[in-house]
Formats: sequence, C-alpha cells, structure tokens
Amino acid sequence: MSEAELRQHHLRVVKMEEEAERLASSLGALMTGTAEALETKGLVDKELTDLLNENKKLKYRTNILKRVESLDKQVAIMCDYPSKRLCTGHVGTLPPVAASAPSPERVAQMGGKSSSSDTILSPDSFKDQMCNILGQLEGIFSRAIQSAYPEATSPVVQIQLSKHADYQCNAAMALAKSLKKNPREVGEKILNNVATNPLIAKMDLSGPGFVNVFLNQDFIRQQVTNLVMKGVTPPPTTPMRVVIDFSSPNIAKEMHVGHLRSTVIGESIARLMEFLGHNVLRLNHLGDWGTQFGMLIAHLQDKFPNFATSPPPISDLQTFYKESKARFDEDEPFKKRAYEAVVKLQAHDPKHIKGWEEICEISKKEFKKVYKRLGVVLVDRGESFYQSRMEDIVKSLGAAGMLEEDEGRKVMFAEGADIPLTIVKSDGGFTYDTSDMACMKQRIEEELGQWLIYVTDAGQSQHFKTLFACAKKVGFYAPDRIRVSHVPFGVVLGEDKKRFKTRSGETVRLVDLLDEGLQRSEEKLREKERDKALTQEEFTRARDAVAYGCVKYADLSHDRARDYVFSFDRMLDFRGNTAAYLLYALTRIRSIARTAGVSSEEVVSMAQKGTVELDHEKEWKLARTLLKLPDVLIRITDDLYLHPLCEYLYEVSSVFTEFYDNCYCVEKDSSGKIVKINNNRLVLCEATAAVMEKCFFLLGINTVSKM
Ligand code: ARG
Repeated sequence: MSEAELRQHHLRVVKMEEEAERLASSLGALMTGTAEALETKGLVDKELTDLLNENKKLKYRTNILKRVESLDKQVAIMCDYPSKRLCTGHVGTLPPVAASAPSPERVAQMGGKSSSSDTILSPDSFKDQMCNILGQLEGIFSRAIQSAYPEATSPVVQIQLSKHADYQCNAAMALAKSLKKNPREVGEKILNNVATNPLIAKMDLSGPGFVNVFLNQDFIRQQVTNLVMKGVTPPPTTPMRVVIDFSSPNIAKEMHVGHLRSTVIGESIARLMEFLGHNVLRLNHLGDWGTQFGMLIAHLQDKFPNFATSPPPISDLQTFYKESKARFDEDEPFKKRAYEAVVKLQAHDPKHIKGWEEICEISKKEFKKVYKRLGVVLVDRGESFYQSRMEDIVKSLGAAGMLEEDEGRKVMFAEGADIPLTIVKSDGGFTYDTSDMACMKQRIEEELGQWLIYVTDAGQSQHFKTLFACAKKVGFYAPDRIRVSHVPFGVVLGEDKKRFKTRSGETVRLVDLLDEGLQRSEEKLREKERDKALTQEEFTRARDAVAYGCVKYADLSHDRARDYVFSFDRMLDFRGNTAAYLLYALTRIRSIARTAGVSSEEVVSMAQKGTVELDHEKEWKLARTLLKLPDVLIRITDDLYLHPLCEYLYEVSSVFTEFYDNCYCVEKDSSGKIVKINNNRLVLCEATAAVMEKCFFLLGINTVSKM
C-alpha cells in the first residue's frame, strides 16, 4: 500500500469510526428505554450488532495502521487549517455535515465573519442568487437547537439527504446522550423550535428522533426559474483576498506532468474562488533564480556570444540546459566560470542580467504556449522578485535571534516542525526556503492576502509545514487572521503503475503529452464518424475540447492526494465518468430544445412565466439535484478537494437521464412528427445545461454545442 493510499485508508477508518460512534451513541440513548425507543429497538438492535462487528474490524485495522509510524505526518494535509470534513468520495451524496456554531477559530479564519454555510439569510436574499440549501438548513437547525437547549455546548448539527424526505436532521441522538434525555423528546423539541422559514414546507419526526424536512415547492420552483433566467449565480460568501500559487515551473527546465497537475488543480481553485466573489491573485512562482543560472549564462556566452544584441535562437531550452549541465560536471574551467557568473549575476552586472533575462524570456514563451492551450491565466512572479526582500528577512531573523548556526549554514527551527528551514547556505547564498519566507511575508503584508494557497506535489508537504510554523514564529503570519493551505497532490503514474516516463525513461514533456491527446481525441472522434457530421471548424473545436477536457477531468476527478494512473484510453472512453462522456451528454441535452425548434430565448421566456412544474418524482429529483450546486461549491472551499465537483457533475448527468427516460420532453407520433412539446420540461433541460456548463467552467473545461 502506498503512503497516499494508506493515508486515504486511515481517513476512511477515522470517518467510519466516527459514524460508528455516532450510531452507537444514539443507541445508548435508545437503551434508556422509552416506549418509542422500544418500538424502534428491533431495527436498531440489528444495526447495533452490525456496527459492533464493523467496529471490531475497524479497531483491528486501525491498530495495524497506527503501527505505521509515518502516517500521522501524511495525514497533516492542510497545514494549520483544521478541515472539518473528510471527503468520502462516494458518488451522489454530500458527506454528512458537522456544522456546529462556527468556532471562534473558524470565524477568525474566515476573516472575522462566519462562512456562508453558518449564516442564515432571509429567503428574500435568494430572489437574485442561488441558495445554499444545506447550509441554510444547518443554520436553521443550529438556531433551533440553541433555543431548545441553551445548555448544550457546541452541539453537532448533522443534516443529510434522506430517502424518506428531502433532508433529515440527526442531531437529536448525540444531544440526547450528552444531556441524558430521551432522544425522541429531544428531536421533538428541536422540531418545535425551528423558526418558520419559507424554505421548509413541513417537518415530521421519525424513528428515534430524526427530524425529516420537506422543502417548499414554491421556493424550489422559484430557484429553478432564477437558474434559467439569471444563470448559475454564486451563493452568499464573505469576500476575501486569496493568493493562489500554482503551476510554478522552473526556468530553463521543461514543464512536466507534476506541473500539469498543479496547473490544472490551481486553475480550477482560482476559478471557483473568483466565482464565489473572492479577490484572487493567481501567481506563477517561477524558479528563476539560483546557482544553475551561472552555468546557463556561461554556456550562453560560449554558444551565442552576441546574445546581448541579437536574441539567441534557442529552440530547445531543455537540450541547452543538459549541455550546460554536462559541461559543468565534466569541465573544471567551465565550472569555475559558472561560479563567477553567479556572483556577477547576483551583483547585477548588466551583461549577466541580460543573459539571465534572455533565458527567462525563452522559457516563459514556452510556458505561455502551454497555458494558452489549457486556457490558464497566471501572473509571472519568479523567485528573483524577492531578492531584496530575502536580504531584509535574513537581517531581521538574525536580529531577532531566530537563526542558528549549523555547519556553516544559518537555519531556523520552529515548534512542530522537525526539520529546520535553511535560510542561508554555507556559501552565503539563499535557498528555496529563504525565498518562500520572503514571499509569504510579501503576500501577507503587501498583497494583503487573507488566504494563501500553494498547489504543489505532496513531496513538499514538510517544506510548507515548516514554512508556516516559522512564519508564525516570526509573527508575520497570525493563524487567527490568515488562512494558509498547502494543497498537495500525488504522483502521476504510467499504466505500468510506475512513475510516468517515456519509453526511453525520460520525463514526458508536457507539450508532447498534449499533442498526443489531440491526436488521440481526433482518432476517437473519427472512429465515431463525427468528422462526417460536423463542419471542419466544429470538428476541430470538439477535438480540442475533448483532448484538453479529458486530461483535466482525469486529474480533477481523482482524489488529488493520491497518485493517479495516466491513461489516454481510459480518459477518452465515451462511457462512464469521463469528460468525453459528459461533454457529449451536455450536447445531447442542448439539442433537445434545438430539435424541437425552440430557441434558448424562448426557453428563458417560458421560465419567466414561472410555471415550472415539479410534480413528477423525477422532475423533483432533478430540480433538487441541480440546486445542490452551491452547497457542493461551498464545501470544496473547506478542504480544496475538487473531485466532489466531478462526482456532482456526473450525478447531474445521471439524474438527468433518469428524468429524460421517465418524462417526455418532446412527444412524437409514429412517423416521427412532433405532436407535443412540454415547455415545462424544456425549462428543466435548460437548467441542467446551465448547471453542467458552470461545473465544466469551474473545472477549466471548454464545452461545445455540437460534437
Ligand atoms: N518551482 C517549484 C517546483 O517546481 C514550485 C514552487 C511552488 N511555490 C512556492 N511558493 N514554493 O516544484
């Protein structure tokens, strides 16, 4: 089992244990023996036996896991920010919510105000924007519990989707246990304390105190109407200044699949934050400073002596890098010149700066081509930007007595981090650690960042943990005001489950990978004879959308913390949870109104009449599913795992299929002539398309109207 799998396994065990504990506690309360409890006892007894067995198994597995010493380190994925929820990763449902009244720590982390899921708004506020229904229910039930049981200290409010109602509140059981009361009575008292809210049509009590919630059809109808008329609108959020560091390749080196993951994940997080109304700074923290530039400049001087006046025609920077590295390793006089070049560069000698600039320019141009293909936007800000700030921070850390000598190096220790940061090397140079300290300070003090996000491979988790601990120790990062998140991701593996490499064992160049994607996508579309059905332009657009969409979706739909196997065959499959399938599903939905001869404008004006009917069970299910989007998005901001958004997108398409199979949208006679168009249902098709489009957008995937 890999460490990532182990970690995932551990999370799942913890989660199951919590669930087992919750059910066992509700059972404890039941055992206190009320008439109602006895009625349900039969059912619960079975549940208990199952749970106790499950619990035994889990305990055994946990003990094995606990023996794996490094596990705890792996579990610390979100440095300094306690994520309240774990992603269970099953399709279709949201993980249970444990949203007690927000902790002061959480409130502070959200910039002094509580997050939207903790705030109840008047339903009027949702006239113009989408409602985070689950978040609102959590708020409503938290208040009910507070007024019913003021003595309860931070009760856990669990709201879940339910088979018996729309939602269900399961808070009574745990509460009854802690207050030593009868759970059904507690459930009843909670129910009676729920303030009237137009979101809720009715409630009832079932089993040992579950409060069933039935949503108000009028409210849902109005939300669907709005969705079609105004498009997907962001739920209420408190805007923050968010700085996202992603992609961040290194100058003169080729971008590889690791950078692809950072680029794809970072772009999606940035789009989500922007959509939610945050003020986002997208930074490309380029590795553009360091001793490697000495050998590059020395090699540049030899190969293109006129580089200062005519830009060097370097077409392949990676080969150039390899040549200079080979000379550096084998040729002593060259090595000496390389060192001298570094010193001159750091002393800002104009000729050396010019050489450095030329190399950076060539590299950046190559990166830009990749970003353009992937539709990614970034502000370049390399490590060199922090040079003077690094000098300052070294001085101030020294003056504050925070640096320790270690074999000629100056290092900084902080509580909770085993390995120190190397602030100054023995030759006096700065390191990755130094630039990150200066950069973090700059992002907080100059950019006024309130939430700093770093998207890198999981191998850097220790680095960020130490960085955050040191920044806290110096004082420029106060965890009660600033939120910091390292967003780590696993390794990309080949189909042989080994590190993704070319046949000859080289790192796969990103450009080659994208080219292969295009070619494979083209073959696939030709195989399906799409070239015959589409114009040349439509075909090219579909090819690109499928190629890049598949690569992105394959990455985003996996739990990012785990390693993932890169397989074009799998990602280009037109069946199952792939971008190819989902993009196609969307075009099908879009074509329903089109083949009925109804334009989008007409559908909007149908919606405007406000006559959406949700009487059929499948219509209601579809509407409810569509309106889950805001809760899904808010939940992602808790732990920055994006695969639940992909699961949700897939769920929408599956629920739509159920609806479409059961509810006629356009009725035809045996000759294929249209005899009836159900306008109402075309509105639901349009709403589905709008939600799917938005999900694709947030995942950074372009959609097409035909493919
Ligand atoms: N250049 C680094 C790499 O290729 C990533 C930089 C991430 N950002 C940061 N502030 N350290 O792995």
